[in-house]
Amino acid sequence: MKKTLIFALLLSVLLVPLAFARGGGEAGAAKGKLVIGFSQIDNQNPWRLAETESVKSEAAKRGYELKYSDAQAVQENQIKALRSFIAQKVDGILLAPKTESGWEPVLREAKAAKIPVVLLDRNIKVDDPSLFVTFIGSDFFFEGQEAAKQMIKDLGEGPLMIAELQGQPGADPTIQRANGFRDIITKYPKISIILSQTGEFNRIKGKEVMEAFMKAKGKEIDVVYAHNDDMAVGAIQAIKEYGLDPGKDIYLVSVDAVRDAFEAMVAGDLNCTVECTPLLGPKGFDAIEATLRGEKLAKWIKSEDQVFPMSVAKDVIGSRKY
Ligand code: AHR
Repeated sequence: MKKTLIFALLLSVLLVPLAFARGGGEAGAAKGKLVIGFSQIDNQNPWRLAETESVKSEAAKRGYELKYSDAQAVQENQIKALRSFIAQKVDGILLAPKTESGWEPVLREAKAAKIPVVLLDRNIKVDDPSLFVTFIGSDFFFEGQEAAKQMIKDLGEGPLMIAELQGQPGADPTIQRANGFRDIITKYPKISIILSQTGEFNRIKGKEVMEAFMKAKGKEIDVVYAHNDDMAVGAIQAIKEYGLDPGKDIYLVSVDAVRDAFEAMVAGDLNCTVECTPLLGPKGFDAIEATLRGEKLAKWIKSEDQVFPMSVAKDVIGSRKY
């Protein structure tokens, strides 16, 4: 009798934390494979397509069931997707959040259901850090700083008039890339940003905004700083249509290091790209698995990124993975 009691006690001590660590995923657990929800912002540019592919192919490799949702750049759609994942009792959620704010209510629901949420590629602002497990992604402030440093290395300390194509408003990379760039250029009184507007992180909008910039101050612009490569590619088209030579008449620097950027550098149209890797699927799933095992993770799992000036593009393009 005494032995049975001790055994029962031991069993409950071992099993209770395990059940907590596994979270709400009864459906997946019963089927013997993990069921993961992935809420993607949109697929409006090659970087995001590469990230989606990284998540989908890694899920297939690991034999997970992936519930995938493309929010078409609408945050409300992401919140709806998260609620649907929670209702389906997934084992874990990967969230690529469009903006920094507005996530608390739905993340509290995920926490109450004991479903771990891992942030992929963008960070958020919440009062309670326990609402998500970790943020896996790049240092966007550093990217902005590196873009400015390379520009100064190539062009000198000015005078330089800069046109900035910003990313999606309210998004972590938009805010940090703008801040990081300014952090460097404010030390140089002859360098200034004369135009700044969102191009929404996509080529079509980037081109439209650049056309308006060229109309307004085409002869004064020395540099285009685009918060991503896709907008830079749109800007290159607009500069050509205006009758100037991108990469020579106007210096262009952007962020992401997608294949299109390397092609533009090889063609002499883009001067520099700063890497921001979208290949985050493996790390995202590793984080969910570790959490389900009850492990505690760092709050930021940082990607190591590099700067690629035009001079190295030809040698590097063949080894790029996205
Ligand atoms: O969050 C990362 C950024 O989002 C990438 O730079 C951009 O291309 C994407 O849409």
